[in-house]
Amino acid sequence: MPTGTDEPFTLVIFGASGDLTRRKLVPALWSLYAGRTLPEPFAIIGSARSEVSHDEFRRRMREAVREFARTQPPSANVWDRFAASLSYVAGDPANPALYAQLEHAMKAIEGARSGPTNRLFYFATPPSLYDAIVENLGASGLAHPQGGWTRIIVEKPFGHDYESARALNSQLGRVFREDQIYRIDHYLGKETVQNLLVLRFANEIFEPLWNRNHVAEIQITVAESIGVETRGAYYEEAGALRDMVQNHLLQLLCLIAMEPPVTFDASPVHDEKNKVMHAIRPIDPRKVDEVALRGQYGPGFVGGKPVPGYRQEKGVAPDSKTETYAALRLTVDNWRWAGVPFYLRTGKRMAKRVSEIAIRFHRTPHMIFHRDPAGVEPNELVIRIQPDEGMALTVAAKTPGPDLKLGPVGLDFRYGEVFGAEPPEAYERLLLDAVHGDSTLYARADWVEKAWWLLGPVLDAWIQASAPAPYLYEANSWGPSEADAFIARDGGAWRKA
Ligand SMILES: NC(=O)c1ccc[n+]([C@@H]2O[C@H](COP(=O)([O-])OP(=O)(O)OC[C@H]3O[C@@H](n4cnc5c(N)ncnc54)[C@H](OP(=O)(O)O)[C@@H]3O)[C@@H](O)[C@H]2O)c1
Repeated sequence: MPTGTDEPFTLVIFGASGDLTRRKLVPALWSLYAGRTLPEPFAIIGSARSEVSHDEFRRRMREAVREFARTQPPSANVWDRFAASLSYVAGDPANPALYAQLEHAMKAIEGARSGPTNRLFYFATPPSLYDAIVENLGASGLAHPQGGWTRIIVEKPFGHDYESARALNSQLGRVFREDQIYRIDHYLGKETVQNLLVLRFANEIFEPLWNRNHVAEIQITVAESIGVETRGAYYEEAGALRDMVQNHLLQLLCLIAMEPPVTFDASPVHDEKNKVMHAIRPIDPRKVDEVALRGQYGPGFVGGKPVPGYRQEKGVAPDSKTETYAALRLTVDNWRWAGVPFYLRTGKRMAKRVSEIAIRFHRTPHMIFHRDPAGVEPNELVIRIQPDEGMALTVAAKTPGPDLKLGPVGLDFRYGEVFGAEPPEAYERLLLDAVHGDSTLYARADWVEKAWWLLGPVLDAWIQASAPAPYLYEANSWGPSEADAFIARDGGAWRKA
């Protein structure tokens, strides 16, 4: 249960000299502070191997906020007050000595304020260090609550397959209880993703239609226009299935497909999402090609400028078979969804950066407007997660004129237009939830393991030396042409988002 909404806390960030801290974590903490939603008093201790003074760390974080935060300090005073809560402890997270230093720093802060001792440890290092951090937090006693709460936030990836995810969970579980562990999937913190649940469960009109009787198919798309940029070496080990499908796309599928939880609290929501995972039809290792397809971007042009193909990117093998595009066809075998295909696709260097969920409804059972049946497309509800957050419902309408001609019109809701302000960053919501003890929008251990288990046959098939290379697609396109044939087998087509 959420606790301690207005209690003091100390956040220790391991990996505080890294990209995530600079681009996401500190800008999000700043925005929360600026919006007066961060509980006070608080302290943020950055830690990494680099030798950096407190002042230099604060200066770097000031730069990070200038570059990446949603809100800028209204005056130097406000920033100075925030900066006063930032400090830095240098050390190697694999070295037990660091933890004595951290304890010393935390006790000094906690001794100077009243209230319970609440501590949050954020793992923003390469995952290879998670074991050592957990071990050291356990051995040093820092893992044990000291009269308040102690929690950890763990960044993805949570393993690279079923076995490694289980090993990581059991490692975390040796030192922390599950209710102390927050596995972050930033997609779940996005406003539109949360709104998806509000749409489904706070409106009467959608839920009666939300099933096989009315829904013909569901498409979930997470398309990026960028390539692998500087992360070629990392991406070689990951690929689109691990990087995006195992976490973000499957999470979205669960939120779309799950039954109404009894309340919007962590356990009921996690339980319902897990039921969906259990209902997804296991992938037959002998028939992987029927349900999964992979692609890799070749060279092309973006904005009129040539861009390299994946195999020409830095850190990528010239004969790499790593997929930069993945498409899946999944089936949820339960009463609500029997027979409704769920198409998932994600790719880099796609024609457009867009994340969306499209729910296509059946055609009307009988068309009375005989003269223009072609003008009537089935209704479609599109939930746009990014950019341009919002949703659109297409309905058939009569187009103006003396003839009875029909055409689709969109009932469009755009977050920016309706609410004005930019929605908060996902990390803001998620950090605040962890401080409040609410893990509803985090990933639970059993969900993570089930997701890896589900994709295991595809991962195994694609790693085989004899497996055919991914289909090539041109940069700035919608993926390989074979993906069109893949979905056309069912008589469908990908949305051109
Ligand atoms: N960046 C993102 O947008 C993003 C998004 C989702 C998930 N993540 C995850 O978040 C974590 C951090 O990502 P990042 O992009 O911030 O990585 P990064 O820029 O490479 O930073 C990693 C941090 O860990 C420290 N570190 C690196 N190697 C180390 C080693 N061998 N021993 C001890 N410390 C080491 C580095 O500091 P020192 O070298 O100074 O010690 C640095 O502070 C990763 O697990 C990543 O998968 C990142």
